[in-house]
Amino acid sequence: MAKRTIVAMPGDGIGKTVLDETIKVLEAAGFEADYVEGDIGWEFWCKEGNPLPQRTIDLLDKHKVALFGAITSKPKDEAFEELAPELKEKNLVYSSPIVALRQHFKLDICIRPCKSYIGNPLNFIRRGANGEIEEPAVDVVVFRQNTEGLYGGVEWSNPQGVVYDALMSHPKFVKNFGDVPQEEISVSTRIFSKKATERILRAAFNHAREFGYKSVTLCEKPNVIRETSGMMYKMALQMQKNDFPEIELWNTNIDAQMMWLTKNPENYGVIVAGNMFGDIISDGFAGLIGGLGFACSAQMGESGIAIFEPTHGSAPKYADYEVSIVNPMAMMESACMMLDYIDEKAIAAKIRKAIADVIEEGKVRTYDMSKMAGRPNVIEKGAASTSQMTDAIIAKL
Ligand code: NAI
Ligand code: MG
Repeated sequence: MAKRTIVAMPGDGIGKTVLDETIKVLEAAGFEADYVEGDIGWEFWCKEGNPLPQRTIDLLDKHKVALFGAITSKPKDEAFEELAPELKEKNLVYSSPIVALRQHFKLDICIRPCKSYIGNPLNFIRRGANGEIEEPAVDVVVFRQNTEGLYGGVEWSNPQGVVYDALMSHPKFVKNFGDVPQEEISVSTRIFSKKATERILRAAFNHAREFGYKSVTLCEKPNVIRETSGMMYKMALQMQKNDFPEIELWNTNIDAQMMWLTKNPENYGVIVAGNMFGDIISDGFAGLIGGLGFACSAQMGESGIAIFEPTHGSAPKYADYEVSIVNPMAMMESACMMLDYIDEKAIAAKIRKAIADVIEEGKVRTYDMSKMAGRPNVIEKGAASTSQMTDAIIAKL
């Protein structure tokens, strides 16, 4: 079989570090691929005025599958300040290349698994009925609609003309906001389309079937947000009945789900939600399994393009440490999701097993796993560096 080409987009800060370490592990595990580097992030904003150059988009179009580290974003004014002098005249405005990727390639499906590893000192624990300590095994995969809803960007402040007229045509608007001055009104819309809702629901059910989860939980608020959450719930009921009768459909409200998060997280399997609630619930579950050092994700869409990345950012304060201290596991877990996606499941399983072995053994732990504050001296205090963690995982392979 021809060797695969993977687009490697390191981005900024620790994104570069964790991606390099991850490629070492992929190679050690026997995954054969060529990596082409895709430019993305702050450096390219400063030098070229574009954090997502067209050549990177072309590479993604060509090779379809990418590993992505993380990028740095800064507020508008700072972004302008750091722009190369010759670009300052050009009226350029910084916008996030992650959002740009999502929109350009219509990456409407975001997957965020949260699975606890035995022996991870960061695992959530609670007390049982007799005061004993319980450590529930969490194995949740959140499917978050990635392009619509509250993140769709359809917003107004001081809405005018037809927009205001449309709002005033709704009896509830008249009743609740009719006497509020226009300039004191801000509106963010929550638009769900049937097509995108169907796609995220189906992706969630398919995942449950493929990986043996017994339930899919829709986590929205259909009793209050009737049109959008309500539509999603109706569609989920229909889909379960017609196409996935062997999988249970559960329905929880986002607020109650956050309360239950620590009560019975082990009861949930696949969770599916719109954009905002999916973001919230996935961060909630990630906190139970160790947080940013462990939270991995994938974004994909109809274009066939799929991008695999840790949830964390570029952690600039750690980027210049002489010896890197960050935990590379979230990036490595993201690479395992990529391997599953391209049907290299055996290699993915091998890497996950090596990670699990290192964690369970407990000898090699990055600073976050040792519950230290992140400082350069954590290595002297016994924390593993990023590359020592990589070496330990490779040794288990
Ligand atoms: P961050 O995720 O970069 O860091 C927050 C804190 O989490 C760090 O200070 C560190 O304590 C911890 N942390 C993050 N990754 C870790 C790892 N692998 N191992 C151990 N500890 C880790 O978020 P922050 O500080 O809010 O943002 C920094 C920059 O990253 C900003 O410019 C932000 O815009 C960007 N960002 C980019 C994201 C992306 O590329 N997907 C996501 C989030 C933020
Ligand atoms: Mg988030």
